[in-house]
Amino acid sequence: MSETAAFRVDVDLGERSYPVHIGPGVRALLPGLVAAAGAERAVVVSARPRGLLPALGVETLWLAAADGETGKNLAAVAGLCERFARFGLTRSDVVISCGGGTTTDTVGLAAALYHRGTPVIHLPTSLLAQVDASIGGKTGVNLPEGKNLVGAYWQPRAVLCDTEFLATLPPRERVNGYGELARCHFIGAPGLAALPLERQIARSVALKASVVARDERDQGLRHVLNYGHTLGHALERATDYALRHGEAVAVGTVFAGRLAGALGRIPPARVREHRDVVASYGLPTALPAGVDHDTLIAYMRRDKKAEGHALTFVLDGPGGPALVAGVPEELVRAELAAMPRDGARAVASPPVPAP
Ligand code: GLY
Repeated sequence: MSETAAFRVDVDLGERSYPVHIGPGVRALLPGLVAAAGAERAVVVSARPRGLLPALGVETLWLAAADGETGKNLAAVAGLCERFARFGLTRSDVVISCGGGTTTDTVGLAAALYHRGTPVIHLPTSLLAQVDASIGGKTGVNLPEGKNLVGAYWQPRAVLCDTEFLATLPPRERVNGYGELARCHFIGAPGLAALPLERQIARSVALKASVVARDERDQGLRHVLNYGHTLGHALERATDYALRHGEAVAVGTVFAGRLAGALGRIPPARVREHRDVVASYGLPTALPAGVDHDTLIAYMRRDKKAEGHALTFVLDGPGGPALVAGVPEELVRAELAAMPRDGARAVASPPVPAP
């Protein structure tokens, strides 16, 4: 990583390696990347106005995307693939996603499936997508039964984290991105809160790149990136996505600290550090009032990390974070009951879809 305002981090995956460029104005690199891919056509799926992106120098179909969890589903993927086909896109061409994590996830999955794999370049425009979602090749969509339950690994050709896109983010969306930065504190990148924004993004991307290079397909080490996510994903689903991803991961991180403390894996001071780090970013640290604990437990048992529906968490410990399966339900219930409640984020949980 260089020390200038623009950073480049490489995700080292042999012949599928790719650069992540971070800094103001890096979207200007897009036409060169399209030319380097040898594409004759491009489809741009963008949640931002077309005028914000440079002309690509090849025949281009521009499609509008709507960021948001409600449009992150298989129907959206099918709709995109149909548009690609009608445009005559081939797998020597390129798909470009421009938007938040829901856009990069959905468009990434469409690119992974179309012609069994078409090159994709991501231009994440939210902080959350720049620090995490667009990096590492996980693509996916939600089912009514849970979040990100259908997906594919499909590495992009490049990721352009243009920090100019962040200037207009609403405050809640910016804080949402901090959720993934706060969890970095416990998985190998402490002290990010004090850094300038570009450097925060670059450090988070570098951490993720080093993990993905060693465990692309989530066989072990990559689980650490899901710190705080077992409860986080359940909270998102149980609140019908009223709680944003980063907010939910923040609460999940506080909870993971409490659970690790209750299991004797970390001392009380480290449990408090979880709460303090999350709070220092202005993120929520309490459960939304009204969220139903049975619902949370049902969704946590459907988590992708869970083996045989055992309650499974990534938890801090003497040797660092590790996947801990089979956490007793009574303990999880007791810690949920002991969490503070946030009356300002009160929700009623919709019913869990039946098996
Ligand atoms: N967001 C977690 C991962 O990419 O593995």
